[in-house]
Amino acid sequence: MPTTAHPKTYRVKSFGCQMNVYDGERMAELLAEKGIVPAPEGEEADLVVLNTCHIREKAAEKVYSDIGRLVKAGRLAGKEPLIAVAGCVAQAEGEEIMARAPAVSMVVGPQAYHRLPEMLDRAVAGERATDTDMPPIAKFDALPPRRKSPPAAFLTVQEGCDKFCTYCVVPYTRGAEISRPYKDLVAEAQRLVEAGAREITLLGQNVSAWSGEDAKGRAVGLAGLIRDLAEIDGLARIRYTTSHPADMDDALIAAHGEIAKLMPFLHLPVQAGSDRVLKAMNRSHTAESYLRLLERFRAARPDIALSGDFIVGFPAETEAEFAETLALVDAVGYAQAFSFKYSPRPGTPAATMEGQIAPEVMDDRLQRLQAALNRDQHAFNRASVGRTCEVLVERTGKRAGQWLGKSPWLQSVWFEGEAAIGDLVTAELVGAGPNSLAGKLRETVAA
Ligand code: 5AD
Ligand code: SF4
Repeated sequence: MPTTAHPKTYRVKSFGCQMNVYDGERMAELLAEKGIVPAPEGEEADLVVLNTCHIREKAAEKVYSDIGRLVKAGRLAGKEPLIAVAGCVAQAEGEEIMARAPAVSMVVGPQAYHRLPEMLDRAVAGERATDTDMPPIAKFDALPPRRKSPPAAFLTVQEGCDKFCTYCVVPYTRGAEISRPYKDLVAEAQRLVEAGAREITLLGQNVSAWSGEDAKGRAVGLAGLIRDLAEIDGLARIRYTTSHPADMDDALIAAHGEIAKLMPFLHLPVQAGSDRVLKAMNRSHTAESYLRLLERFRAARPDIALSGDFIVGFPAETEAEFAETLALVDAVGYAQAFSFKYSPRPGTPAATMEGQIAPEVMDDRLQRLQAALNRDQHAFNRASVGRTCEVLVERTGKRAGQWLGKSPWLQSVWFEGEAAIGDLVTAELVGAGPNSLAGKLRETVAA
C-alpha cells in the first residue's frame, strides 16, 4: 500500500448500543488531539472510523456494504479515504475484514481503540494494522480528558459480560466483566459536568454487576456509586443501563426510592416469557421471578417507567411459548421496549440448536409483539398527560422556537418558548403520541 497524506478530517460512525456511542465519542477525542477535525456535513472525510456492532447478522453485514459505499464516494470526490474498522465486528472478524476489504487499513477492537493514533501513523506510512488485544481497562487510562459534553452524557463504568446467554456474542467480543475503578469514574463524571453534562447515563453490558472500592476503601456496588455521583453539584440526573435480572440487589432497588437524582426508569431485558425458552437461553430468571423483581422496583418507586428487550423465534420456540411472551408484556405494561428476531451468531451455542425458526414465522411473531409493545408505549404516554415534570433540553426542534428534551421517564417532549440546550425546564405534558409528547413550558430551572 502506498503512503498517504496525513488525514485532515475524520468521521466516526457508530452503530449498535450506547457503549459504542461512548467509544465513538472517545475515539473522536483522540483524533481531535492529533489535530484532525470533524468533516463538514455533506463532505467526504479523509479518515472514516466505522464503529461496528456484531450483535445481529444484519448489523455485522452492514460494515461491508459501508466500506463499499465509502470507497465509491471517495472515488467520486477524487480521494481515497483511510478506513478504520472498530467495535465488535473488528474484534470478532478482524482477519476476515483485512482479507475481504483491501480498502481497510486499520482494524481495532473495542479494548484497543486508545492505540488508534499510533495505528493511524502506521497507516499513513502505508502499513495495514490490526489490534484486537483485550487488556482490561488500559484504554480508559490512555484517553484524553473530557472537554465538551452534551447535556445528556454517557459514562462507561463496566464492560464485558460473564453471563453467556446462549444466543449472544457479547461475552466473546467484549470479553469478561470488568469494572472501572470508583475514583476514575467520580473524576470522569466531575469532568463531564464541568464540560456541560446535566445528566449522566452509566453504561455497561451488565452495569448492575459493577463493583468497586469507594474513597474510604469500602466495597461498593452500583447503588453506592450512584449515591456518591449524586453529590456532584450541577449534575441533575443519573440513569444506568443495561441491567441483568440476576444482579439487581436490594441496595439498587432502594436507591430508586431514596436518591432524587436517580431517574424513575429501568431497562431490564427479559428476552422471553416462556420458562423453557429462558432456560434454553441460559437466562437465570423465570417469567415469575422477573415479574416479582419488577414489583419490588415499583414498590420502591411507584412511577418507575419500565423497559425491556425481547427476542422472538429463538430455536424451537413454539406458538404457545411465544404467547407466553405476549402474556408477560400484558402483565408488565412497558413504557418502551426493544424487540428483535433471533439471529444465529457464529460460535454461540444457540446457533447450532435444533429447531431454527422459519423467517416468515419470526416476521409474524415480531409484528404481533411490536403491536403489543407500541400499544403499551402509547398508553404509557397518554397516562403521562396532565403531569408537570422537569424536561432536560437536548436539542432544537424543526420549527423556530421549538425544543426537544427528555422527561424523567425518558420520553421525548416537544415544547415551544424561551429555553436553551442544557436547561432543565418545567413543563406540563399536554398531548401524547406513540413516540413523543407535547409539553407546555411552565418555568426554567436555573442551572
Ligand atoms: N439475536 C437477536 N437478538 C439478540 N440480542 C442479543 N443477541 C441477539 C441475537 N443473537 C438482543 C437481546 C439483547 C439486545 C442487546 O440484543 O435482546 O438484550
Ligand atoms: Fe449478552 Fe446475556 Fe451478557 Fe446481555 S447478559 S450481554 S444478552 S450474554
